[in-house]
Amino acid sequence: MATTTMQEWADGLYKGELTVLRGLLPEDLPELSGWWNDSGLAVLQRYTTSPIPTEDSEELFRQWSKNDTMRAAGFSIVSQGGEMSQDGDLVGHITAWGMDPRVRTARIAIMIGPRYQGQGYGGDALRVMLRVAFEEMAAHKVALDTWSFNERALRLYRSLGFVEEGRERDAVFHRSGFHDKIVLGMLESEYRERYGD
Ligand SMILES: CC(C)(COP(=O)(O)OP(=O)(O)OC[C@H]1O[C@@H](n2cnc3c(N)ncnc32)[C@H](O)[C@@H]1OP(=O)(O)O)[C@@H](O)C(=O)NCCC(=O)NCCS
Repeated sequence: MATTTMQEWADGLYKGELTVLRGLLPEDLPELSGWWNDSGLAVLQRYTTSPIPTEDSEELFRQWSKNDTMRAAGFSIVSQGGEMSQDGDLVGHITAWGMDPRVRTARIAIMIGPRYQGQGYGGDALRVMLRVAFEEMAAHKVALDTWSFNERALRLYRSLGFVEEGRERDAVFHRSGFHDKIVLGMLESEYRERYGD
């Protein structure tokens, strides 16, 4: 263990360099729901681009952010110290979900709002979520998947140390064609080696 006390470690647990992960606030919902229903974002992360009723998309974020089980965690991502935003701006949402007690694989889903993309927020929030998953949720593996055409996401995930584990062929249909789903993962041992405390 490092030299920090338990309390110091916990104080920094949800804080990155550019972002903080915090609990969902009611005022986050219109923006998160709007991003979820934005077809330009949906094509990158959903099986369909069809908007869903606002109350349904808001309910998704409420469910994903409940944090009432040890198998999942979900947070609003807010900025701190970024050049393009005010501190405390809502920039996205992130979840780690689906952990079962034996295999302990946490699956991450992340969405950064369009005007905040490409400024380091996604990478920073993912590093924080890796810490939460491995150091606080007891994950054995963190997994991610993305469509093969989502090059920004793939480049980022690989740069953080995720390893490509395989691909599900023709998993999704967008723009008149089928696309593969790329599955990536990081084991706890790989996390400790790369980000060790
Ligand atoms: C994919 C996604 C999560 C990535 O988050 P992001 O905040 O846009 O990504 P980052 O800015 O952290 O990193 C992406 C790029 O910005 C660069 N970057 C990192 N820090 C930066 C900084 N401080 N300033 C400028 N650029 C920076 C990274 O090096 C990377 O560069 P690259 O394009 O050469 O790889 C985000 O774009 C997103 O939510 N997209 C839409 C939905 C989606 O695709 N979700 C994932 C589905 S699996």
